Amino acid sequence: MKLTTGRLVLREYAAADFDAVHAFASDPRSSEFMDWGPNSEQDTREFVDFCQACARAIPRTDYTLALTLRSTGLLFGSVSLTVHGAHQARPGRRGPAVREGEIGYTLHPDHWGHGYATEAARCLAGFGFSELGLGRITATCRPENVASAAVLQKLGMDQVGHRTNDRLIHGRWMDSLVFAMDAPGLSPERR
Ligand SMILES: CC(C)(COP(=O)(O)OP(=O)(O)OC[C@H]1O[C@@H](n2cnc3c(N)ncnc32)[C@H](O)[C@@H]1OP(=O)(O)O)[C@@H](O)C(=O)NCCC(=O)NCCS
Repeated sequence: MKLTTGRLVLREYAAADFDAVHAFASDPRSSEFMDWGPNSEQDTREFVDFCQACARAIPRTDYTLALTLRSTGLLFGSVSLTVHGAHQARPGRRGPAVREGEIGYTLHPDHWGHGYATEAARCLAGFGFSELGLGRITATCRPENVASAAVLQKLGMDQVGHRTNDRLIHGRWMDSLVFAMDAPGLSPERR
């Protein structure tokens, strides 16, 4: 699959992407607030293999796509949407369950600050709502990761939770902010 925005192409990974993926995945700045990395070469090979296997899976539940520049084809990051099972959204609500997806992104530091994460995540969230019929998309980030929280807010997500000490990040327990947005037009009783 391939999704195109004004400046970006989100496409499936290929084995030939190894060097470009390893450039951002082995950079400690990319994984400062993440529970993975910095990648060894073996980690990166396994990541690319995993993404390719997910692309072949039926039904597909993981859409981790290479983030590339439309103008040059340069691969500089990764954006993902993971589809979870249907959830009864909130206690006390009896409407039909909605399917949820979780979004995430990582860019090479050379390409931070240009709005690319927001552009890519908006595109993939739109795909999740319109093509996969998701009722809700969620994301988490560490409170210290102000750039990521800003991306989620720019996407139109609301902060719906704060989990204390829920992620072990490079040997240190850190909090998570939980963000969510409902599908456009989702009826109030299903929220
Ligand atoms: C988080 C990340 C994806 C953001 O990518 P990006 O392309 O730079 O994001 P965008 O340019 O779309 O938006 C970033 C926003 O954060 C803001 N921002 C960045 N650093 C900031 C800071 N220190 N304080 C306040 N705002 C900050 C930017 O100003 C921008 O908002 P604006 O467009 O309103 O000015 C990128 O920093 C990254 O790859 N980090 C490492 C991996 C990671 O942490 N992923 C998320 C895990 S939850």
